Amino acid sequence: MNTIPVKQVEAGAGEYRKLTVNIFRHNPQDENSVPHMDTFEVEEADSMTLFILLNEIRENQDPTVQFDFVCRAGICGSCAMLVNGRPKLACRTLTQELPQVLNLAPLPGFELIGDLSVNTGKWMRNMSEHLETWIHNREQERDFCELEEKMEPEVADKIYELERCVECGCCIAACGTAQMRADFVGAVGINQLARFKIDPRDDRTDADFYEVLGTEEGVFGCMTLLGCDDMCPKELPLAQQIAYMRRKMALAEV
Ligand code: SF4
Ligand code: SF4
Ligand code: FES
Repeated sequence: MNTIPVKQVEAGAGEYRKLTVNIFRHNPQDENSVPHMDTFEVEEADSMTLFILLNEIRENQDPTVQFDFVCRAGICGSCAMLVNGRPKLACRTLTQELPQVLNLAPLPGFELIGDLSVNTGKWMRNMSEHLETWIHNREQERDFCELEEKMEPEVADKIYELERCVECGCCIAACGTAQMRADFVGAVGINQLARFKIDPRDDRTDADFYEVLGTEEGVFGCMTLLGCDDMCPKELPLAQQIAYMRRKMALAEV
């Protein structure tokens, strides 16, 4: 439900832009469904995001349009979609930054649920299980009442910076390798392992990281064209992390 009061945007002297919105439609569960585009006309409003625009369409024109959202604040990562061919978060994209004709499509590289909704969760879980993106502590017994060792603030800051990933999938949609190889872990996976590599609580060695990341599905499959770095809505330092893990894995290989 759109709960944000909006004021219409003036296109010229006293006029408002009428946006033409072409939306990809397909229900893979329905064998009679044929992929096609549906066109909607929507009057723009002040501070209108794509999320608000899609709600306008769903509330006033077609209640069956499927798209995902949870937080409406760029935190949950669920509203990513292709906007005129570029991956973006719908809740963080203002229509005033876009042309009058909008083409909206689901993120490529993920299982389609319907229309603009894709199953990024399934992809992220597979990647996480493959790379084991959790702390590995070799201590057999752990006393959970014990206070954790202090971490240097600079290290905590570095970890926090990489933890900002919201698993939206924009880097996968923008990645040529990920589109060709379903098992490629992408910038999101490389970034997540870089996060554990700098965490002093993780006991894994370079050889352990090499085992899961030193492959063609891992960092050596990356073509370093950096579409991921350009398209990450959280502006994570992906180019830096890819270069860092590539260097570490190349050294671990020797
Ligand atoms: S690295 Fe950036 S683009 Fe990729 S999933 Fe995380 S937040 Fe999204
Ligand atoms: S730099 Fe690597 S991970 Fe990023 S888009 Fe290119 S191939 Fe994909
Ligand atoms: S709705 Fe959560 S990131 Fe857009």
